Amino acid sequence: MNRQIIKILRTLPAVILLVSISSVMLMVLSRHVKIEVTSLNEISIPTDETEVPPLIITAFPRTKYTKTIPTIPIETTTLGNATVKPRVLFDEIINPHPYRYKRIPSRVCKSTGNQVHPRLLILVKSNVFQIGHRMAIRATWGNFTNSSIQIAFLLGDSPLITSFTKMEYDLYEDMVQEDFMDEYKNNTLKTIMGFNWAVSDCSQAKFVLFVDDDYYVNIPLLLDLIENITESEDENVFIGFKYEHAVVRRKKESKWYVSTDEYPNKHWPPYISGGSMLLSMDVVKEISKTFPHVKQIFIDDVYLGIVAEILNITLTHDKRFEVKYVPEKLDTLITSHDYGSPNVLVHEWNIDDDEDDAISTVEQNSRT
Ligand SMILES: *[C@@H]1O[C@H](CO)[C@@H](O)[C@H](O)[C@H]1NC(C)=O
Ligand SMILES: *[C@@H]1O[C@H](CO)[C@@H](O)[C@H](O)[C@H]1NC(C)=O
Ligand SMILES: *[C@@H]1O[C@H](CO)[C@@H](O)[C@H](O)[C@H]1NC(C)=O
Ligand SMILES: *[C@@H]1O[C@H](CO)[C@@H](O)[C@H](O)[C@H]1NC(C)=O
Ligand SMILES: *[C@@H]1O[C@H](CO)[C@@H](O)[C@H](O)[C@H]1NC(C)=O
Ligand SMILES: *[C@@H]1O[C@H](CO)[C@@H](O)[C@H](O)[C@H]1NC(C)=O
Repeated sequence: MNRQIIKILRTLPAVILLVSISSVMLMVLSRHVKIEVTSLNEISIPTDETEVPPLIITAFPRTKYTKTIPTIPIETTTLGNATVKPRVLFDEIINPHPYRYKRIPSRVCKSTGNQVHPRLLILVKSNVFQIGHRMAIRATWGNFTNSSIQIAFLLGDSPLITSFTKMEYDLYEDMVQEDFMDEYKNNTLKTIMGFNWAVSDCSQAKFVLFVDDDYYVNIPLLLDLIENITESEDENVFIGFKYEHAVVRRKKESKWYVSTDEYPNKHWPPYISGGSMLLSMDVVKEISKTFPHVKQIFIDDVYLGIVAEILNITLTHDKRFEVKYVPEKLDTLITSHDYGSPNVLVHEWNIDDDEDDAISTVEQNSRT
């Protein structure tokens, strides 16, 4: 059977429940529907050939935020060895983004009408088929009562699920969607869409967190971090789990295969794992402005690393943007990846008092 049809069939129980619009639905969803975790975020998995371990910063350095973003260099020659850098011509559009919005979140940012500008915008990269992940986030860490934090989901398109997507949008109005196909290889298009939409419709926000739909976000800790950054009075921020000297995959079978024609260097420039990253709006704007002039690489976090290198934006490593799931450290991590399934997230969220119970539940789920 066609893989996409299988995906739909897997999602179908969740979708049928979606129609019944009630909180009971969420309970049922969390108890009975098992939805497979997609491989979308595998993009961020470090290469095991990484030669130098990432720089580990154990205490968050307030003084780190002293960099200003330089203006875009006019000539490619200022970028150093042109043969090992991506082709950049700032007067020429070499990476057009000819896609159109199908949906923009009418309850988020510009369009809310309630005049409360969010301080933090959270953009969740999600596969259009992963309704279960989005429902779980809406019911747990993504349910904000304070409009200084707002959340929207970034989706591509699929003709196989249009009416379900419409239903979901009608219920929540929290999705940004363009008309490119929601495929793994189109992940960079989704990221570009997120940057562009944040700039055009939510530029009042001071910070943007980009996060994959299978992450848990520790909102209080994230707000604390933002508070610390703000106090340091410099907001040129691009922070997350940083990889350095990651090897470019040259084996055609690799999911991350990139040819030497596309990128000649042996190593990628430093980049922040795309699974979860915090940027200040000024950095988001600079990067968004530069996308049309930088040749696209389908691995979105690597692509952002290339753009950041061109703009000389400082990438700050913070190991609390965890790319793994470490149940015993949930309290001290800002983000955690791969908690198992939407069920686990909802279940754990509902256990307030008994931490041990929550941890053992996670362990059980991850073994099955
Ligand atoms: C530039 O790249 C070429 C080809 O990769 C290499 O031979 C040369 O040594 C590099 N030059 C510098 C200054 O890095
Ligand atoms: C979000 O939380 C409120 C209570 O704070 C609750 O009424 C609402 O149902 C929650 N939303 C979702 C999607 O679970
Ligand atoms: C919302 O959050 C902001 C920042 O955390 C805080 O200053 C404000 O008082 C909060 N508003 C409400 C209504 O809780
Ligand atoms: C990406 O989206 C475009 C536009 O919908 C589509 O033509 C293309 O096939 C997609 N790429 C992949 C790899 O699916
Ligand atoms: C914020 O700064 C305080 C004081 O330096 C520190 O104790 C705390 O851990 C910081 N919070 C985060 C989330 O980094
Ligand atoms: C890049 O930034 C660093 C400091 O972060 C600075 O020392 C260096 O001169 C900058 N390079 C360019 C080309 O602007």
